Amino acid sequence: MKSSLVGCGGISAAHIKSIQGNGQARLLSVADIKIERANKVAAETGAIPYASLDAMLDAEKPDVLHICTPHYLHTPMALNALERGIHVLIEKPCAVTLQELAALRTAQKRTGLKVGTCFQNRYNYSALQLQKLLQDEEKHGKLLSARGFVTWKRGADYYSDDWHGTLAKECGGVLINQAIHTLDMLQLVAGGLTGVTGHIANDHLKGVIEVEDTACAMLEFASGAGGVFYATVAYAADAPVFMEFKCEKAVFRIEGDNLYEIKSDGEITAIKSFEPKDYPGKVCWGTGHLALICDFYASIIEDRPFEIDAFAGGKAVEAVLAIYESAKTGKRAALA
Ligand SMILES: NC(=O)c1ccc[n+]([C@@H]2O[C@H](COP(=O)([O-])OP(=O)(O)OC[C@H]3O[C@@H](n4cnc5c(N)ncnc54)[C@H](O)[C@@H]3O)[C@@H](O)[C@H]2O)c1
Repeated sequence: MKSSLVGCGGISAAHIKSIQGNGQARLLSVADIKIERANKVAAETGAIPYASLDAMLDAEKPDVLHICTPHYLHTPMALNALERGIHVLIEKPCAVTLQELAALRTAQKRTGLKVGTCFQNRYNYSALQLQKLLQDEEKHGKLLSARGFVTWKRGADYYSDDWHGTLAKECGGVLINQAIHTLDMLQLVAGGLTGVTGHIANDHLKGVIEVEDTACAMLEFASGAGGVFYATVAYAADAPVFMEFKCEKAVFRIEGDNLYEIKSDGEITAIKSFEPKDYPGKVCWGTGHLALICDFYASIIEDRPFEIDAFAGGKAVEAVLAIYESAKTGKRAALA
């Protein structure tokens, strides 16, 4: 399959490596408004460089477009490609408003094309193993509560480009950018959100960014379980993301990509990783991006649904937007 990519910045390398590494795709062309970035990728890969998405899509007919641009461009670029009959793999978040999300979902349904969102942590061994374990309700009991903490470091230098930290282009701060993966995982494992009560703050980077650097929320899951969530970029380092799931008869903890069971006497036991044969990445071994991108291409070739589409991948966007709404109104925000 022929692949094109728009946005040759930091994350594009993971996409390009995965396109090159999965054996099902060939990088045809790349576009960036900073043409020197597109030229650099072109020199390294043999792809054809363009200075705009439209120029690229007018000239080339890729099967798949990888969208690696700032947040506010994701849905408009995806709709542009879908209208031209091109499958889209969108970096998170797939949309920045509920209106955009609805438009993306409608376009996915109407065109029948694949829309993928990059929640690559869903392919981590720990996440896959945990979901398998929690299915055994007889052994572990019902899920009672979940907690998630994202404590990372971002300073003024990170926000010195023309989009990070701005309401118009990043469309939020730590929640919509760094912590959206963890919200996605919590809602996935705990079975969907029905409500949130949240707060956001900008204490660490006041005067530097327009958006929040810290957020917290109480979570209500459809299963009846509750949850607590905290995210900040004011920590001294990028600590491993921490998630814990308290069931009636067991407690499971994810720290980074490690999964543990916490026994009732406090003893912590590491749970063995997935066996390679159980891993859905199949031959596509390696990072989450590689596994996700392989799975995305395989879903096109095998003509089967891609799981993290505009509907499933949009759930975390809905959660983020609900926390923003709650923070603004001071009230609980409901989720469908
Ligand atoms: N899945 C993950 O874990 C993960 C990690 C990092 C970043 N991301 C996401 O990837 C996206 C890009 O992040 P990044 O860190 O690579 O940002 P970046 O700023 O390094 O790269 C963005 C690129 O888009 C280009 N661009 C901007 N406007 C454009 C336009 N109109 N047409 C063409 N190109 C344009 C910029 O010139 C830049 O090269 C964001 O959505 C971010 O949230 C995801």
